[in-house]
Amino acid sequence: MTMELPQPCRFNLCLTLLVLYFLIGFLSHTRTEAVATYLYHNCPNTTTFIPNSTYQSNLNHLLIYLSSNATRDVEFYNATAGNSVDTVYGLFLCHGDLPADTCQSCIADATKDIVQRCPTERVAVGWYDECMLRYSDQYFFGSMVTDPNAILGNTQNISDQARSDQLVRATTNDLASGIINLSTGAKKFGTKQANFTALQNVYTLAQCTPDLSGYDCNRCLQSAIQNLPSGKQGGRVLFPSCVARFEIYPFYLTGNTSAPPPMLVPPPPTPKGANTITGKAQT
Ligand SMILES: *[C@@H]1O[C@H](CO)[C@@H](O)[C@H](O)[C@H]1NC(C)=O
Ligand SMILES: *[C@@H]1O[C@H](CO)[C@@H](O)[C@H](O)[C@H]1NC(C)=O
Ligand SMILES: *[C@@H]1O[C@H](CO)[C@@H](O)[C@H](O)[C@H]1NC(C)=O
Ligand SMILES: *[C@@H]1O[C@H](CO)[C@@H](O)[C@H](O)[C@H]1NC(C)=O
Ligand SMILES: *[C@@H]1O[C@H](CO)[C@@H](O)[C@H](O)[C@H]1NC(C)=O
Ligand SMILES: *[C@@H]1O[C@H](CO)[C@@H](O)[C@H](O)[C@H]1NC(C)=O
Ligand SMILES: *[C@@H]1O[C@H](CO)[C@@H](O)[C@H](O)[C@H]1NC(C)=O
Repeated sequence: MTMELPQPCRFNLCLTLLVLYFLIGFLSHTRTEAVATYLYHNCPNTTTFIPNSTYQSNLNHLLIYLSSNATRDVEFYNATAGNSVDTVYGLFLCHGDLPADTCQSCIADATKDIVQRCPTERVAVGWYDECMLRYSDQYFFGSMVTDPNAILGNTQNISDQARSDQLVRATTNDLASGIINLSTGAKKFGTKQANFTALQNVYTLAQCTPDLSGYDCNRCLQSAIQNLPSGKQGGRVLFPSCVARFEIYPFYLTGNTSAPPPMLVPPPPTPKGANTITGKAQT
């Protein structure tokens, strides 16, 4: 991951920004333990709602449903608000290795953050380090989509690119194949570590939203794996339906990553076909 700081700025402005930065950091730190680390978002401005409309009110309710349900020690929840043309559908997904309170604070933060980035958009998806939040005016539960998306790569190159790419793909493919036979509603998350050299490990993670079938999850992950940045020390592919990531350091909580108990989600309607990937690259 790279962070861009504003480069050319006058000394006073920089100082003010720096003070603000630390102040905000301090305030947010005292406010809550874990804060959603923003990665990327997408909300096309082609479909917007009128401020204070029924849609806005339904969206507000949806975000409350999502954040309040995140306190129930679930890492995935989908909700619907409204029952007419202004219905809003939404879900959240926390990384499968997170403790419940981290998931809860990520969703609490994400629900506030996304409406600032997308104040009048009807359709939005936000990816954070710890969780993902998505809503739409169209029913999308159980459908596999890979668009919109983001591909993030570490700026650092890795030595022995060919072997590293091969290892990352083999490891993540292994992860995906363990997910393919899981039922709709089951948690679809895995992490796997592999030796790159005697001294260097590669750590990988794959996760789908549980409303997908194992078959669609595998399709999503195959596409994600193919789009992982090559020759880098780390990278991730963020799709609305699944995410894949690798790094040369352990970035997930190690521990129990074996097949988890199924989650209670009713079977979805017949999934639509996957959209094609229109890669939005960013490093
Ligand atoms: C939508 O976004 C595009 C690109 O960001 C911008 O050029 C356009 O003016 C925006 N349209 C509206 C209606 O805000
Ligand atoms: C929306 O409602 C809020 C409070 O109810 C009000 O302050 C604001 O001016 C309204 N905005 C519009 C665009 O009507
Ligand atoms: C969870 O969301 C539903 C709507 O989907 C809502 O009725 C319910 O009160 C929420 N549960 C909690 C614990 O907040
Ligand atoms: C959650 O998604 C399932 C399909 O995966 C759907 O049947 C169910 O109605 C949704 N629940 C809510 C509260 O929207
Ligand atoms: C990484 O490799 C690419 C070409 O393979 C090169 O253009 C780039 O400068 C390298 N970056 C670093 C940080 O070494
Ligand atoms: C998934 O199921 C198929 C057919 O039931 C089976 O052939 C395959 O070995 C299974 N894959 C895994 C990884 O369990
Ligand atoms: C990785 O290498 C270490 C030491 O070189 C070894 O102990 C370990 O078993 C290896 N792990 C795997 C998964 O091969």
